[in-house]
Amino acid sequence: MARVSALALVLAALAPAVLAQPAQPAPPASVVQRADYLLGQMTEDEKLSIVHGRLPLFIQNRPADIVLSAGIVPGVPRLGIPDLRESDASLGVANAGRDNDDAVALPSALMLASTFDPEIAEQGGAMIGKEARQKGFNVLLAGGVDLVREPRNGRNFEYLGEDPLLAGRLAGAAVRGVQSNRVLSTVKHYVLNAQESGRHILDAVIDPAALRESDLLAFEIAIEHGRPGAVMCAYNKINGVYACENKPLFDILKDDWRYPGFIMSDWGAVHSADAANAGLDQESGEQLDKEAYYGAPLKAALTASTVPQSRLDDMVRRILIGMGESGVLDASSAPDPLNTNADGIVAQSQAEAGIVLLKNTGGVLPLARGARRIAVIGGHADIGVLSGGGSSQVIPLGSHMFKAPAWAPPWGPGVVYHPSSPLGALKALAGAGEISFDAGIDPGAAAKAARGADVAVVFATQWTTEGADVSLTLPDNQDAVIAAVAAANPRTIVVLETGGPVLMPWLGQVPAVVEAWFPGQRGGEAIAQVLTGAINPAGRLPVTFPAALSQLPRPKLDGEGMTETADLSAGKPFTVTYREGADVGYRWFEKQRQTPLFPFGWGLGYSSFRYEGLTVRGGLTLTASFRVTNTGTIEGTETPQVYAAAPGETRRLIGFRRIALRPGESRVVSVTADPRLLARFDEAAKRWRVARAAYTVTAGKFAGDPEALTATAVVNAASLQP
Ligand code: BGC
Repeated sequence: MARVSALALVLAALAPAVLAQPAQPAPPASVVQRADYLLGQMTEDEKLSIVHGRLPLFIQNRPADIVLSAGIVPGVPRLGIPDLRESDASLGVANAGRDNDDAVALPSALMLASTFDPEIAEQGGAMIGKEARQKGFNVLLAGGVDLVREPRNGRNFEYLGEDPLLAGRLAGAAVRGVQSNRVLSTVKHYVLNAQESGRHILDAVIDPAALRESDLLAFEIAIEHGRPGAVMCAYNKINGVYACENKPLFDILKDDWRYPGFIMSDWGAVHSADAANAGLDQESGEQLDKEAYYGAPLKAALTASTVPQSRLDDMVRRILIGMGESGVLDASSAPDPLNTNADGIVAQSQAEAGIVLLKNTGGVLPLARGARRIAVIGGHADIGVLSGGGSSQVIPLGSHMFKAPAWAPPWGPGVVYHPSSPLGALKALAGAGEISFDAGIDPGAAAKAARGADVAVVFATQWTTEGADVSLTLPDNQDAVIAAVAAANPRTIVVLETGGPVLMPWLGQVPAVVEAWFPGQRGGEAIAQVLTGAINPAGRLPVTFPAALSQLPRPKLDGEGMTETADLSAGKPFTVTYREGADVGYRWFEKQRQTPLFPFGWGLGYSSFRYEGLTVRGGLTLTASFRVTNTGTIEGTETPQVYAAAPGETRRLIGFRRIALRPGESRVVSVTADPRLLARFDEAAKRWRVARAAYTVTAGKFAGDPEALTATAVVNAASLQP
């Protein structure tokens, strides 16, 4: 995995005082050797100083060059080890404490997942990595890869959906993009941080083998593809032990997966210096912990030998390896102005690729060109598009801010709308049509606005944020507004801007629904492109939309209402039991024989596609090939998905491909399964086991597609080392 450092770079990174000494060991050649070399030069205090970081906001007499970002870990200048300057970055370089910064906001991660395209993920990562470097950061707290197990989770917009292959592949690609700029990226939050209610005090209980086959597999795949410099552990407990002192889970990472980088804590997730013995390498945002455990307490523990010196060395070595692997040790830190126009195009094309057309009856979309009366209603569509709240918040110049609702956590700038008005963009694109706007607050007024129009486009929003969960019902009477508009105008199109799934009691009354998620800083333009047909929508749902709460593994949200307070440990600890195990999302729906509102993988476009000729080869694994043809009249993008299951098991996604096809064009799609996607994890033997069986393979448009091509093939028994 190593990026081998050239001798010249190594020498350049070393301080002159070190170079001047003649009796130095041979110059280090690899990342690991270099880490060892630097470690050998460090004093005890230098080692201790790089294993804990601080939240700049609480640093007294903060030097002017330390911005109010997520964190800072001082480096060792005499050895050329730079400070770690950390920014949040689930969807752009976050603006902690810096309103109206110029960083570009990508769409939400869930929208990225809707693209089903690792290349798009990598481009987005490369863009924000570049902006990070231009702004003087060298660590991005990115790579959220917890599986969506709870559709009400306020942070689903920072994650990549409910499937381990999809989430892992996209997170890995995004990390690779970030790190191509010599900026270190994390993956987070290890692991099972699946809801925000009570995240500091809840115990997530799950069968360990099922965890391997689901959330851990997403991390494993992300780490293989992205080689992140660090992994951030979560706040919650897993099976009784806090994530940031969970030795069994750290052993999986470091021993089973041979992960060479370091584990950093989430901010305020450490509970004692003994976490070092469990395997936590770095304490982050230490002022948020009850004590700065990796400061004086860790030093005392080393003196008392309750934490061995060898462990401190391992912690430092891993941090240096993470820095070396990601290129941080070799990067120069000369801040540079951003090119927000060019970077904004990356955000817009990601949004265009991730918008999901959920329903389109009678071809109401795309809007016909020419003079038309379009009634645009609701969602602040006149000023911008909604974004998600919390540490990941990016507030581009010109953003609009509203007071947060009463249930929101007591921090953050409020509800932020990115400055990209769908109304404005529609006016620019829809030709000479007459476009009106109604705020969509009063159902009667909204209906009146819709009545005389050729078409009504209702924007409905649900703000979600870190630190709180939501219900699946659209807030602020928006369901009633939509129903009233639909009753007044049969050609009603609903555009959703949501952090995750919502219920749609009005679905049968409207001919078209578009899921535009939190579409980022050019989201308004992207929505207008899709509505007018300039872009043929091709997003696919990375998460199942339930038809009712009763369909969920936990119809009642455990810890409901436990929004974050100033005292993070307030409240009575409770347990969340993940009884669905590895049957997350669409697998749960299949197992329960439930029909969701919209299935995982679902999405329409303005073209049509035919699948044919599925052949499946078995043996060591499964390889499926089939032909996809664009049978429509315009170019379109299709995302065929291949699912497989052994008899008696639920189907798992084993491959997907996003392909653009001209009318009449066809392509053979071939997918080979990662054997772990066919295996069960044997917890006692600590091995993956593939059963010899005839697997059913389907190639279709979404999970459970009744028209999918189907074939079977026998896979040989196998036992695989993790
Ligand atoms: C979040 C992390 C974030 C950190 C630093 C925490 O509250 O859970 O995702 O990286 O803060 O801002």
